[in-house]
Amino acid sequence: MSRVTKLAPVEGAYNISKDLPNRENFDWTIITKHFSWTHTQKINMAYECVDRHVEEGFGDKVALHYIDDNLESQLTYSQLKDETDQWAKVLKKHGVTKGDFVFVFLPKHPSCHIAMLAAIKLGAIVGPLFEAFMEDAVRDRIQDCEGTFLITNKEFLPRIPRKDLPSLSTIFITDEATEDDTISISEEVKQIENLESVIEWVDFNHGLNIHYTSGSTGKPKGIIHTHRAMIQQYVTGRWVLDLKETDVYWCTAHPGWVTGTVYGVFSPLLNRATIVIHGGRFQAEKWFETIEKAKISVWYSAPTAFRMLMSKSDQVIEKYDLSALRHVLSVGEPLNPEVIYWGLEKLQLRIHDTWWMTETGAQLIVNLPTDTIKPGSMGKPLPFIKVEILDDQGFPVTQGQIGHLAIKASWPSLMREVWKNEEKYQSYFPFGKQWYVSGDLALRDEEGYVYFQGRSDDMINSSGERIGPFEVESKLIEHRAVAEAAVIGKPDAIRGEIVKAFIVLNPGFQENSNLLEEIRLFVRSQLSAHAAPREIEVIEELPKTKISGKILRRELKALESKRSSSAPVY
Ligand code: PRX
Repeated sequence: MSRVTKLAPVEGAYNISKDLPNRENFDWTIITKHFSWTHTQKINMAYECVDRHVEEGFGDKVALHYIDDNLESQLTYSQLKDETDQWAKVLKKHGVTKGDFVFVFLPKHPSCHIAMLAAIKLGAIVGPLFEAFMEDAVRDRIQDCEGTFLITNKEFLPRIPRKDLPSLSTIFITDEATEDDTISISEEVKQIENLESVIEWVDFNHGLNIHYTSGSTGKPKGIIHTHRAMIQQYVTGRWVLDLKETDVYWCTAHPGWVTGTVYGVFSPLLNRATIVIHGGRFQAEKWFETIEKAKISVWYSAPTAFRMLMSKSDQVIEKYDLSALRHVLSVGEPLNPEVIYWGLEKLQLRIHDTWWMTETGAQLIVNLPTDTIKPGSMGKPLPFIKVEILDDQGFPVTQGQIGHLAIKASWPSLMREVWKNEEKYQSYFPFGKQWYVSGDLALRDEEGYVYFQGRSDDMINSSGERIGPFEVESKLIEHRAVAEAAVIGKPDAIRGEIVKAFIVLNPGFQENSNLLEEIRLFVRSQLSAHAAPREIEVIEELPKTKISGKILRRELKALESKRSSSAPVY
């Protein structure tokens, strides 16, 4: 396969070419006209995602298509409306009202979508939690915003540290029988008789969802988005995902991550797509099988998953009929050109990189299906977005130089606030309100294509999942053998980065493989599998600044990059 530097768009009827936005004089009213609230002034994300389509005569269209190893089931838009109404009624009966935090801790399954939408129907702020979170991760999030309600299942219940969560008054479970003092939603819906709609209308700035996200310092921060985000989440689904009436769409992320919520729930439902939900862990063969079985046409995933699929032999991929696929996209970490060339060769499709963050609420830098792709670049800003590369003083750098990737504020899906942390919110605007500064380093070429160059802080990105070193270090030093810890991202050919910990042992402890494995499992079992260090190295002393004694993670990272035999991916 020749290594071309530009991949021309494939001829076709794309949504964006029909809508034809003028990149220079873009006007948001082009998009807002799509929504029913332009005429009714009644706003609610869940209504636009579900009820509206039923009222417009599309109730029989499949909304959710679930597939796992043993089961396959479908839910139409009409059924999704009924289910979300009924669940909302149960939640309401037990006290959920506008503005409450409702956490949802469920696996990749339609019940997770239903729970989220039911809470949103009532105007609650939904907090989806990643299914692999262990006690500490669950506790930190619910404690931070004093969450009152949680929807989970029996299997996940032991991971809820209830004694540490006095604010948590009510736990709903999706299973039939209750456990302790939980409320079974599936039992209670049987008693619901009143079938009137329960939708609470809200204003644009009303809280919609909270996603906790890591930075390089402190515990994860709660990023709050509003119902206004639907404007951008709808239009990016239309222009970037290019969703059409006949598409079957699969976003591989769990709703606990922002991609799984925005592009796994909101955006495709706003576009009235059929969503595939695949239950279970990543397994290359199962993923190919899912694409074949559900006839997936639009697929949104992440570089690590693509690299894992790439590592399978040709015989594996050739067993499957992937011919329904027509549009493939990637997010979350640098998409290395090798992956794009693999896509061209094996899928006969371009893989379209997209860039955004939890805080931005929707895609901002993208490869539109109508644009030429330059492998190695994340693409260009959306028509209504202005990107600048700034120096340390907040001035634009000369073209081709590396600087801080900044976006001109504001846009509809930008976060409303960082929960109870105004200082953190302000830190995204170090040069004044005009520029949102992402924390990513990037450069831009003469045609406006943006190239990711790393982070300006110590945040770790492993398999597209954002991990704060502080959270892992804090957990490590809770182990009796660990005196001090520093955690960095070590370059890795498959996962982009892996979590690597450098530790200093307490007196009396000797380094040995059993002890290191015990420490690793300690983090894994209490925090989460994705944050547990894949490598632990014992050292005598951590590098620190002379004056303040702050750990110099950068030095450890430089050391590791030098040693690393695997080529960095960017
Ligand atoms: O460093 C960038 C990286 O992921 C960070 C945002 O992480 P999170 O809030 O978890 O959201 C991930 C999915 C929206 C960014 O600051 N990142 C995201 N997309 C890309 C990327 N790095 C390189 N290329 C991308 N396309």
